[in-house]
Parts: sequence; C-alpha cells; structure tokens
Amino acid sequence: MLIRVDTTKLKLPEGRASWAPEGILAYSKICTHAGCAVALYRKPTFPVLEPQDALVCPCHYSTFDPFTGGTVTYGPAGRPLPQLPLEIDADGNLRAAGNFSQRVGPSWWNVRSRPTND
Ligand code: FES
Repeated sequence: MLIRVDTTKLKLPEGRASWAPEGILAYSKICTHAGCAVALYRKPTFPVLEPQDALVCPCHYSTFDPFTGGTVTYGPAGRPLPQLPLEIDADGNLRAAGNFSQRVGPSWWNVRSRPTND
C-alpha cells in the first residue's frame, strides 16, 4: 500500500532515509500477524484523546506506525510491516528501488520452510 505523510514526522530505521521520496511510503498490505489485509488508516481528529496516525489491521487490531518503518505499536503482530524502498526516477515516475525490508506475509508462514525431517 502507498501512503504519503509529512516528511518532518518520519523517523525511519537506519539506512532507510531515502526510501520515502517526498514522504511517499510503501508497505506490504499483508498483516504480519495472520495474513489479513491491513485495511484501515487511522487519522485521529482529536489529538488529545488519540495517538498519531497508524495503519491498522481490523482482524485482531494490530497497529503499525507508518512513520517509524511499520513498527508494531499495538496488537498481536510480532514484527513490523515490510517496507518497500521507493524512488522517483529522472522522468518523475515513482518506482520500487529494491526489495522489501523483510519477508512479506504472516509470521507463521515460515513453518513451511522448516526441514520436514524433524
Ligand atoms: S491478522 Fe492482522 S491483526 Fe491478526
């Protein structure tokens, strides 16, 4: 999914400073908890009562911080949303600048990659 945020609020992990040209961020839409779609963007209108913007999965309410590299701020997800590095090329086209920061999908998918002889 693509979102655009205020660049002054970005605190991306080390090495990702160039991954969000003009504040445009790309994250996997597949929740790292159980694979549902991260389908909500929480944009608080009452700053005194609500925390900042967040990407939210409605299934079990895992909540991810788009400003800090998709880190988990609430809920059962055990790892951040994978982030896709972006760039704007010489023609002004937005495109991927590499692969995702980590494996896309729910955390339990690695069960299938374990050796079958144990
Ligand atoms: S699948 Fe997203 S919170 Fe459980």
